[in-house]
Order: sequence, then structure tokens, then C-alpha cells
Amino acid sequence: MNYFIHTYGCQMNVHDSEKIAGILEDLGYVSFTDVKDADIVVFNTCCIRETSEKKIYGHIGQLKKLKKVKKDMIIVVCGCMSQQDGVPAKIRESFPYVDVILGTSNLAELKDAILQAKRKRKYTNTNFCIYQEEDFNQLRTSYPNAWVNINYGCNNFCTYCIVPYVRGRERSRQMDDIVKEVEQLVENGYKEITLLGQNVNSYGKDLGGGENFANLLHRLGKIPGKFRLRFMTSHPKDLSEDVIDAVAQYPNICNNIHLPVQSGSTEILRRMNRHYTREKYLECIEMIKSKLPDVGITTDIMIGFPGETEKDFLDTLDLVQKAQYSSAFCFVYSRRKGTPADLMPDQIPEDVKKDRITRLIATQNKVTREISKQMTGNVYEVLVEGTNPKFEGVVCGRTESGRLVNFKGDASLIGQFVNVKIEKSASATLWGVITTEEK
Ligand code: SAH
Ligand code: SF4
Ligand code: F3S
Repeated sequence: MNYFIHTYGCQMNVHDSEKIAGILEDLGYVSFTDVKDADIVVFNTCCIRETSEKKIYGHIGQLKKLKKVKKDMIIVVCGCMSQQDGVPAKIRESFPYVDVILGTSNLAELKDAILQAKRKRKYTNTNFCIYQEEDFNQLRTSYPNAWVNINYGCNNFCTYCIVPYVRGRERSRQMDDIVKEVEQLVENGYKEITLLGQNVNSYGKDLGGGENFANLLHRLGKIPGKFRLRFMTSHPKDLSEDVIDAVAQYPNICNNIHLPVQSGSTEILRRMNRHYTREKYLECIEMIKSKLPDVGITTDIMIGFPGETEKDFLDTLDLVQKAQYSSAFCFVYSRRKGTPADLMPDQIPEDVKKDRITRLIATQNKVTREISKQMTGNVYEVLVEGTNPKFEGVVCGRTESGRLVNFKGDASLIGQFVNVKIEKSASATLWGVITTEEK
């Protein structure tokens, strides 16, 4: 009995898929690479932009013919898309061959839902409930990296964003549970642990015991052993100096901060409900750079928010040049039903959006190329993550700052720290050689 999981969206979903895999393996299923022969197909969905949703509906549609032949195949749709109002009904109507629909907090029911589906009973539940991480046997799939949730949900309600509606209110895990999980992972040989939350900086606020994210980092930074710790995502409005001081204090915590800016225009930021100005954001960047040498700062930026003028957009380009991000995820604003921005006047025409995203990407590429050039000739410690699928005899890994480096090597290096001298760069990708030279 085989299963195949389609994972869409962010790291939160990648990690949820590891929990789904754990549940399916407990039921006796094994992972399979060919969807056509799978007994269970899971769609772990994302609805952050319209393009994500369209793609997923297309993929679910492709299974119609297959299910006609393979009547016992069980199809599960879960994740953020199925949590949206009206979506379960729409799936039932347009894709009646789907067996199970679960919301973002209903994973604990997956086992029962599958057993029902085996008896040809449909199962749907998207009611919010709180589950504990410990309930799942996770099947970790990304050695030497491991994901650890620290808080779920989001309370920020940025006016463009669907996440608070589909992931619910902020819930933090108990600090002791997180520390125990990280200790266990380090003991089991994991070398890079990434803490996950929509807004890691608000960790602990809901626990009521005075816990906060900086305290959590102090506890995790003291765990002995050679491993790296990263975290995402930081919201600029809540990123405190205490957090950056903790990053600076512990060598295990990487000098790598993902700090989504969204826009370089204070007026657009106000309408996005981001609670910071362009100036405050740039001050934050300065504070980080002054405390963390060689830091890699990455970001998310959106163009085409309702009412964005050419001047607002130029402010964004200017900020990109000032911030000097090592890389940036650039998005075109997408209208999401039920969010305030969807109802705002002055939605931006497609051709203007296209022009702006092209210019934004070109600007950031130039910055990335420049930073890559500066790195050439230097030696960095790299954690080897895997073999490069495109080039035979080449492995890849990341620097502490989060930059991807390719170099000659074989699979036996995976999970090891090696020193690599950067020889050349092709925009975002760095190429180097293993060296005995010190950093
Ligand atoms: N919690 C994180 C981000 C979660 S979503 C944060 O606050 O930064 C990841 C990214 O998707 C966001 O940073 C944003 O840039 C983008 N995004 C969110 N909603 C979007 C929308 N409606 N259209 C286009 N991009 C969007
Ligand atoms: Fe969405 Fe804003 Fe929450 Fe991030 S902080 S998940 S962008 S509402
Ligand atoms: Fe992530 Fe997409 Fe959900 S970005 S939180 S999987 S809407």
C-alpha cells in the first residue's frame, strides 16, 4: 500500500506533510514516487495567492480519470485551501471523487478519516481544534535539516493576507516541549533546526508566563553539540534587540534573518496594516547589521498592492538597494476573498503589475550578484545538505548566512560541516571547492 503527498506552499506545509507521512506510515502505507500507482493521494494545499489555488484545482482535476479506473484510491485534500469558507462545498461539488477534506487543525483525524474512506464513506471536517505536536509520529524527510513548530496561526491580519483566516489565532507551544524536541533532534544527528512560526517574535505572548522568543533562543542556544539553529518568519514590528543579541551570543544560532518588508512605501505599509514605517524598518536592518557580522538578510516583497503608485514602487526599489538583501522572494499582489484589501479601490492593472515585478526582480538580482562577487575568494563553513540533481559529482549546502553553495563531493558528505572557498558565482548560486583553509 503506497501513498503520495503533493505539498504546496510554505515550510509550515512542508513540515505538516511530515506529520501526514508519519500518520500514513503508522497505518502501514509506504511512500511512493508515482502518483498513478498510489493507494492514497494527499493534496496538502496553499491558498496564499490565486495562482497557487488554480494550480492545485488543476492537479485534483487530473485525478478524475485515474479514480474511475482505480476505484479504491483514496484522495485527501487538506491544508490552507480547504480551510477557506465555502471551499469544502466547492470541492464536493466540482470534484465529487475526493474522499477526505480536512482543515489545517484537523490532522489528528486523518487516521479515522482514511479508515472511513476505506469503507467508502466521505469525511469532511474543517472546524478549528487545537492539537499538540506530540500527538504525531513525524516522518522527517529533510535530513540533515529538521523543522520545529514554535507557534501556530497569526493575529496580525495584514490586509492582503489569508493566513489568519485559514490558520487561526496565535498559539504557542510550551517552551519545555520545544526544548525537548530540539534536544532530541540534535541527539539523533540533525544538524540544522529551523524554528517555524508565522511570526516567531510573538512567541509566548499567549502563554501568560512571561515567556518570549528571546528567552526561548537563550534556552536553545545552550544546547550542547555541533548544530545550527535558524528561525522564520520575523515580523519587523516585533523584532526586538534582545532577539538579535541572543543570535549574536550563541555560535549555534545562524546570522541569518528573514525579515519580510512587503513594501518600501510607508503609506502602503499603513494600508497593509504592517505597523512599521519605511524608516523604522531600515533602522531595524541597521541594528541587525551592527550586531551580526556577515549576516544574510532575506525578505518577502509584494508589488501591485491596491493604490500603489509609481512613486510608492520607486520607494520599494530604493529600499531594496539600501537594505542589500542576500535574496528576496518577490510576489505580485493577488486578491484574496474575505481580506480587506480585496475591497479596496484602485486595484492595479495586470500590465502595470507585470512591469513592476520585472523591474523589482532585476533590481534585486543586481544586489544579489554584487554580494556574490564580494563573497568570492572567501572561505565559509558549509553544511552539506544533498547532492545536486543537475550536476553529477556535485553537492550543495548552505553558509551560515543562508547562501547556497555548489562544490565537488559525494553523498557521503551529507550532514557534515566543511570549509568551502568560493571560486565563482552565477547570480544567486555560488560555486566553490572544499578547502583546509580556515574561515
Ligand atoms: N508570516 C509571514 C509570511 C506568510 S505568507 C510574514 O508575515 O511575513 C508569505 C508571503 O506571501 C508574505 O510575506 C507575502 O509577501 C506573500 N503574500 C501574502 N499574501 C499575499 C497576497 N495576497 N498576494 C501576494 N503575495 C502575498
Ligand atoms: Fe499574513 Fe501578515 Fe500574518 Fe504574515 S504576519 S501570516 S503576512 S497576516
Ligand atoms: Fe503557508 Fe500557503 Fe498556508 S503560504 S500558511 S501554506 S496559505
